[in-house]
Amino acid sequence: MLTIDIIKAKQLKDKPDPNNLGFGNYFTDHMFVMDYQEGMGWHNPRVKPYEDLHLDPSAVVFHYGQEMFEGLKAYRRQDGEINLFRPDMNGKRLNNTNDRICMPQIPVEDFVQAVRTLVHTDASWVPEEAGTSLYIRPFVIATEPTLMVNPSKSYLFMIILSPVGAYYKEGLNPVRIYVEDTYVRASKGGVGEAKTGGSYGASMIAQKNAKNEGFAQVLWLDAIEHRYVEEVGTMNIFFKIRGKVYTPALSGSILPGITRDSVISLLKSWDIPIYEERISMDTIIEASKNGDLEEVFGTGTAAVISPVGGIHFKGLDFVVHNNEIGPITRRIYDTLTGMQYGNVKDDFGWIE
Ligand code: COI
Repeated sequence: MLTIDIIKAKQLKDKPDPNNLGFGNYFTDHMFVMDYQEGMGWHNPRVKPYEDLHLDPSAVVFHYGQEMFEGLKAYRRQDGEINLFRPDMNGKRLNNTNDRICMPQIPVEDFVQAVRTLVHTDASWVPEEAGTSLYIRPFVIATEPTLMVNPSKSYLFMIILSPVGAYYKEGLNPVRIYVEDTYVRASKGGVGEAKTGGSYGASMIAQKNAKNEGFAQVLWLDAIEHRYVEEVGTMNIFFKIRGKVYTPALSGSILPGITRDSVISLLKSWDIPIYEERISMDTIIEASKNGDLEEVFGTGTAAVISPVGGIHFKGLDFVVHNNEIGPITRRIYDTLTGMQYGNVKDDFGWIE
């Protein structure tokens, strides 16, 4: 258990218009910070006023990208209480990422305590308007001042909070996606299954090109054959074909999404067949041509569920479910958001 110092801000910020938040544009009054130094371990956990960082320009994070982040949300219930959704899963995934990029572990219970303490301090920032929440962004950066390509000897673990609306301006409306066959997001043995900032930076060019062509998202394919589906934008992806649901197996290049895991559990509890396996674009196109491609949706913390209404592949357009939200997509969205906001009973023990 951490002993967290709480240093309150003397001046509180004006709160933004809750009906016009967008995603990640506003930050709350406080942040959580904890230092790490080789030999001392993690120390000095504190909540303090949100402010700029003071870092040496040679800090490892700026040069070699030794950095990771997580994402989760706090939800305002109708009775005014605040729900967190599976924060321990974020703590576990943080440690998997930290292992991959040689950063020190943070005990999951310390991670969850830090999240809770900061959210509690800035509780008045959890918005109550429909569809809004408080996005929680934990991250770790390497701070040692050196240009040597070695794991840093010092780190900062921080958490910042941002009141948010929908991640995609489309909200729960079907989007058209572009199947990317030049750039790849990740390869087996790389960092695709870890949540490192670099993966997201590297994905921006394809996203930018797709946007310029009028598509909302990129559908990522595998790095070797450019044939098997991996993820959509920053989300995991699901396909419903002839009553069965498929999602790419966690093969080393796919991020183990917490929404992904929750959707799989929900489908199992509803006795809807769900398969985690390799899915080729040939299978998707054939299913679409036969009229068997019933629903496609992305899953992630930021957007929750994002229905796909059209797929653009090698110059051809394939429409999914008449560009409308399918029944399973809708049921998952309603159930998950219902649990998160405290309106649907949580039989899984996901809400804290
Ligand atoms: C998510 O939705 O889980 C994400 O990681 C999106 C984030 C990069 C904004």
